[in-house]
Amino acid sequence: MTKKMMCRFPSTSDHYEIKICSGLLKHQTQFLSSLASKFAIITDDMIAPLYGEQLHKTLSESGLDVFLFSFPNGEKYKTRATKELLENQLFEKGLGRDTCVIALGGGVVTDVAGYVAATYCRGVPLVMIPTSLLGMVDASIGGKTGVNVPYGKNMLGCIYQPKKVVIDPSTLISLPKKELANGVVEMIKHGIVADCEYFEYLEEHSSQVLSLDLGVLEKAIFESCRIKKEIVEQDEKENGKRHLLNFGHTVGHALEHLTHYSLSHGEAVAIGLLVESYLSVQLGALNQKSFDRIQTILVQYGLLLQLPVRFPVQTILDAMVLDKKSLKGQPRFVIIEKIGSPRVCDAKYCTHVDEVLIRKALQWMNDALCCN
Ligand SMILES: NC(=O)c1ccc[n+]([C@@H]2O[C@H](COP(=O)([O-])OP(=O)(O)OC[C@H]3O[C@@H](n4cnc5c(N)ncnc54)[C@H](O)[C@@H]3O)[C@@H](O)[C@H]2O)c1
Repeated sequence: MTKKMMCRFPSTSDHYEIKICSGLLKHQTQFLSSLASKFAIITDDMIAPLYGEQLHKTLSESGLDVFLFSFPNGEKYKTRATKELLENQLFEKGLGRDTCVIALGGGVVTDVAGYVAATYCRGVPLVMIPTSLLGMVDASIGGKTGVNVPYGKNMLGCIYQPKKVVIDPSTLISLPKKELANGVVEMIKHGIVADCEYFEYLEEHSSQVLSLDLGVLEKAIFESCRIKKEIVEQDEKENGKRHLLNFGHTVGHALEHLTHYSLSHGEAVAIGLLVESYLSVQLGALNQKSFDRIQTILVQYGLLLQLPVRFPVQTILDAMVLDKKSLKGQPRFVIIEKIGSPRVCDAKYCTHVDEVLIRKALQWMNDALCCN
């Protein structure tokens, strides 16, 4: 059965539907035809033969004027150059303001194609069809689009909401297993920062999620999308509550950077979730039992929680200052009081922490999670 929810932004009266159902990819023509007269499916070279060509065929056969564009897959192609290339290809096909961009792929595609849609002819309608688990539970919700530049990740972009998000979990069958972990980590994070019942559901259904049981996946993806959309609805421009979604990422991003990305995003954020939970324990906010549950669920989902090398604490501290929650050169952290209940102080969702405690948590990470 199709699961649906609406994402609404009261300040702009912008709203859109998020639909989740296996097999959904085949049944979108009616809605699409109300959006534009021409359609540009933007995808990558991995997804084009798997789902792009079929979607192109289905939409063409139902009478829509559709074009398929693809770029090489992978984070290294999330660039200004790729955006420019795609824009030129769209112009060469004579596509104008009456075009709808369909972003079909993982988070790289939804970020790049979303950014193209946001600026093409000063903005054309956008439909997100995420195909990776991270894309489904995270990247396609909330409107962040953008590209990387040599100066940093996601440094160019804008917030641009789609007209619809269409999630077909059956596409996950072809997703490489290592990519699944990147989405699983964000789902576990959603449970920790917002919903203990959902966390329990994930605890009880790890084998079904990992074996891609579609019924369980649909429910879990729905809950994660609901949590993310409820947070972004209250903080579209990332001034407050959206910081919760960054739990685990202060340490996680620093580790990704310091290991030159030999740790995947999922592996790094999994360690980040644990270290930042440890910090909450140090502050007397989270009890040891809850910390143990967080560690157990990460292991249950096959996340390694292994640091390849020890890093000097000062080096990690320096890398953490680059975090977007940093204020006056000091990192800030989301503090968890119970699973599903973050600390909120003066309407702030993250806070500075005594450096002695941060150093202690990072030392603990080196001692407990590094096998060398
Ligand atoms: N906009 C946001 O709010 C937001 C949030 C989180 C992450 N992101 C961004 O998302 C990106 C990471 O996304 P990702 O993890 O999906 O990576 P990705 O888009 O690179 O996809 C990972 C790999 O899986 C392949 N793939 C995707 N779906 C597949 C499927 N169904 N079958 C087979 N192969 C498939 C892709 O071709 C790629 O090779 C990062 O650039 C990150 O910055 C954005």
